[in-house]
Amino acid sequence: MAKIIAETSRTFNEYLLLPNRTRTDCSVGTVDLGTPLIRHRVGTPPAIALRVPFTSAIMQAVSSPELAIALARDGGLSFVHHNQSIADQAAAVRRVKNFKAGFVTSDTNVRPDDTLGQLLAVMGRTGHSTAAVTDDGSPTGRLLGLVTSRDFHPQRHDLDGPVSGRMIPVAELPTAGSETTLSAANARLWDERLDCLPVLDRDGRLQHLVFRSDYEDNKRFPHQLVDADKRLRVGAGINTHDYRDRVPALIAAGVDALCFDSSDGYSDWQAQALTWVKKHHPDIAVGGGNVVDGEAFTFLAEAGADFVKVGVGGGSICITRDQKGIGRGQASAVLDVAAARDAFADRTGEYVPICSDGGLVHDYHVALALAMGADFVMMGRYFARFDQAPGAKVPTREGFVKEYWGEGSHRARNWQRYGQGGQGLVFEEGVDGYVPYAGDLHEGLAVTIAKIKSTMVSCGSIDLPEFRSTARMTLVSEQSFQESHANVVVRETAASAG
Ligand code: IMP
Repeated sequence: MAKIIAETSRTFNEYLLLPNRTRTDCSVGTVDLGTPLIRHRVGTPPAIALRVPFTSAIMQAVSSPELAIALARDGGLSFVHHNQSIADQAAAVRRVKNFKAGFVTSDTNVRPDDTLGQLLAVMGRTGHSTAAVTDDGSPTGRLLGLVTSRDFHPQRHDLDGPVSGRMIPVAELPTAGSETTLSAANARLWDERLDCLPVLDRDGRLQHLVFRSDYEDNKRFPHQLVDADKRLRVGAGINTHDYRDRVPALIAAGVDALCFDSSDGYSDWQAQALTWVKKHHPDIAVGGGNVVDGEAFTFLAEAGADFVKVGVGGGSICITRDQKGIGRGQASAVLDVAAARDAFADRTGEYVPICSDGGLVHDYHVALALAMGADFVMMGRYFARFDQAPGAKVPTREGFVKEYWGEGSHRARNWQRYGQGGQGLVFEEGVDGYVPYAGDLHEGLAVTIAKIKSTMVSCGSIDLPEFRSTARMTLVSEQSFQESHANVVVRETAASAG
């Protein structure tokens, strides 16, 4: 006969945090959101820690190189999806690792004999007003000069004339060699009153452009998540089918952490794959999941997982519970797995962080997940809304939306994540839809971070370990849930009409 677990399966909406006493040294400015990403000895720092407890979902609609760069610049980590060829995924990892803040690969490029009319069209397409003139018109050709929108006027100059007639030739331009650092480049931008400094290799081929505005921009990101060589960190999803080939390629591309991506990670296949990675590539961090209970957590931790993801069926695009009847309310799952993590740490001396993955609908859900014991969270819908996510931005009558589709939808065709017994999906476990557009990731995430810090201050906690060890929570009734929302305010228009 089936065993019925005594506790009801509960979700984040059913809980609220009680405020704790706030000490005078506890303020939004002093709260630290740093958190371990991977397994470490209790009492020693982990080899990789996040600056903020956010990772982006291993999904086509979410973790592109652009989003990975934006999130790492804010202190979090993306896991580039694996539902693509090994070569394409490795190239995406390389793009993130090669990103050099402030060093821009020129996207507005022309040949010297292109016409000013053609230059105008290129500038219109990219929206940039500085163009590099290279011998072959490529971003890495030999630099012949620069031309900006200030160097010609569409009414005053013949648009059929060549770009070379209006450009500032390279001999008259300040340039820097490839060894230059961002601060050295910035010093020259100010000392020599420049707007742009081209960086050239020994043969005079263009490598990057450094703009004054980009240096300012760089100062906006004081919490970047970088490796020992100051390159942004990036993770990658892997599966239990082609890991023998995929893992070495991703390591060669410079990946910082891997994660087995499965809708149900409590399996011998995942344990075998974890064991293989740990045996053949002991230096790379690799996470496992997804699980919803302590037993499954311990199984993966013992198989070598460096962190474990929690969550089955709670994702915003997820229909796994409808289709297969498996899963667990995310709050119950996190509480159970967090207890198992602590028991594992007591027994072995090894702390294996856990990640609450999926179903975080409101910003305060993140705070609840962290208070319940998650070391960090993974989100799909949340990140899919931003400019940097790969989904198309679509206008509607109510405003812009962005495409967002589940990895278990027919659109994603991710048969590796959903082992249904064939090389294809027999039935869908995810939907294909839209999420409201939310602008720039840096600005959106700043609001979420501010809210979480503010919650922690109300709960008297200066860091995440303190937050989860001192948090007090209450279950909410249907009635008190109603009370949580603004419901007695008369709308201004209704009031004035009345
Ligand atoms: P969200 O943050 O609520 O949108 O959930 C994102 C998470 O849902 C991902 O990190 C995956 O764990 C999970 N997921 C992604 N695609 C699917 C799907 O098609 N069906 C079920 N779960 C999915």
